[in-house]
Amino acid sequence: MFRKILVPIDGSTEALAAAKYSRKIAEKFGSSVTLLHIIQHSAYIMSGAHAVPSSVIESLDERGKEVLEQASEIFQDFDGYVTTRIEYGHPGIKITEISKENNYSLIIMGRRGISDVAKLLIGSVSNYVLHYAACPTLIIRDSD
Ligand SMILES: Nc1ncnc2c1ncn2[C@@H]1O[C@H](COP(=O)(O)OP(=O)(O)OP(=O)(O)O)[C@@H](O)[C@H]1O
Ligand SMILES: [Mg+2]
Repeated sequence: MFRKILVPIDGSTEALAAAKYSRKIAEKFGSSVTLLHIIQHSAYIMSGAHAVPSSVIESLDERGKEVLEQASEIFQDFDGYVTTRIEYGHPGIKITEISKENNYSLIIMGRRGISDVAKLLIGSVSNYVLHYAACPTLIIRDSD
């Protein structure tokens, strides 16, 4: 049960809370954990248009690495398998696709993310994944 856990990370405190929670579950079930960051950008950048300076893309890559490094620290001395992955595209679509293609058994993510607009209880990425993921999805709050 819960052999492979996917933890989407966007740099928010609730995503870090999800990473902490995933460690506990992984320790209990002997699961492997993947910390996944999606670099969100327009099709314009994807097309390699010259109008988008490469420095913009590089800084997004850099930020992605930092965000994953920060989440990795939660797994210090973790007696199991943890890895990180960066992908490009629409976060909800990508998280869902990756979870299906790689047969993840559980997704653990934050309820809100870096935008944290107070008007909604749940962010658009969490909402998308809850609707379309093929495996169980656990939504974590800061206080969990
Ligand atoms: N780019 C991303 N890469 C990986 N995981 C992400 C990404 N964006 C969001 N997530 C995951 O989704 C959770 C909820 O974030 P979400 O983006 O849905 O909320 P938000 O930022 O508060 O609102 P908004 O809908 O305005 O983005 C995060 O805690 C994180 O686990
Ligand atoms: Mg967000």
